[in-house]
Amino acid sequence: MTVRWGVIGPGRIADKVVADFGHVPGAELVAVASRSAERGAAFAQRHGIARVHESYRAIIDDPGVDVVYVATPHPQHRGIALAALNAGTAVLVEKAFTVSSVGTREVAAAARGTGVFAMEAMWTRFFPAVVRMRDLIADGAIGDVRSVQADLGVRNQSGPDDRFYSAELGGGALFDLGVYVVSFAQMILGSPSEVSAHGTLAETGVDVEESILLGYPDGRSAALYCSLQCATPGAARVVGTEGWIEVPPRFHHPDRILLHRHGAEPEEIGAPALGAGYAHELIEVTERIAAGEPESAVMPLSDTIAVQDVMAAVADRLGMVPVEGPATLE
Ligand SMILES: NC(=O)c1ccc[n+]([C@@H]2O[C@H](COP(=O)([O-])OP(=O)(O)OC[C@H]3O[C@@H](n4cnc5c(N)ncnc54)[C@H](OP(=O)(O)O)[C@@H]3O)[C@@H](O)[C@H]2O)c1
Repeated sequence: MTVRWGVIGPGRIADKVVADFGHVPGAELVAVASRSAERGAAFAQRHGIARVHESYRAIIDDPGVDVVYVATPHPQHRGIALAALNAGTAVLVEKAFTVSSVGTREVAAAARGTGVFAMEAMWTRFFPAVVRMRDLIADGAIGDVRSVQADLGVRNQSGPDDRFYSAELGGGALFDLGVYVVSFAQMILGSPSEVSAHGTLAETGVDVEESILLGYPDGRSAALYCSLQCATPGAARVVGTEGWIEVPPRFHHPDRILLHRHGAEPEEIGAPALGAGYAHELIEVTERIAAGEPESAVMPLSDTIAVQDVMAAVADRLGMVPVEGPATLE
């Protein structure tokens, strides 16, 4: 079976992601939808895509499209994903999945109710280096895991017009960068019982930077940092009773890890990614849909909900009020 893909929102990230389809067996990129006929046509020409739709509704209703990759700003994910799932079209939704726990739960409920595949495009989880790290942790290579530390900061100097600083477009550090450190901690430690956060807000009301401390009932913890104004290494570390694993910069798309077993020399484990690294999540979605499965075991909807709940708590601690998009197509 060939899984036929469409793209919604041909912006910056969509350009990068679709370039990796050459590494995805059993997938064909057949259509793109843009609110602008010119943008859609230019994207289709750059990537050799046959059909251009001039509305998001049209690509969702295209019977020749099995799954849409949703690459609009985050608040717009909710209405698009709900419309697609209710029409029987599978979705791969960019991170952040939505900007609210309510929005994320609605989309997850629609996927579960319809039995149509849905997944958050948290590409980090599918990198061979991350898969290797999880296997080592499961095998007890660093003993009992007690702590996760991760940072991700960029020096973003875009103007207030850019989506990064616009509340209506889901701006701020949390939903663009914080989602990576929170998701990484959630992947290793699960859902925290306590969330603390301290940071600053921009004049537009979105968060510029923050430190996040996650606490677990048995004393485990995660110390995380994200920033839109300070460049940081972008490293992660998982600490256990028998050693630690380092995910060197940038941890959200790594090509290697370093295993430090207590009392031994560090071992560097190389695990290069295919293409620009997006291929692995595309392969996962293509394979799950071809197999008729409604979710990914690597990035299940329950984990996406757990991550969204932590981000909601962080926003609350910072005094930020995320502006969720409508539940219907605009
Ligand atoms: N996985 C990754 O590495 C990664 C990296 C960067 C971004 N992302 C995620 O990808 C999503 C898009 O980010 P981006 O940087 O590609 O954004 P972008 O360059 O601004 O593109 C977003 C696209 O969404 C469409 N859109 C729909 N409603 C819109 C609205 N109200 N305002 C503006 N655009 C709207 C536009 O396409 P049309 O108007 O042509 O339809 C636009 O080209 C975000 O959720 C972001 O977090 C992921």
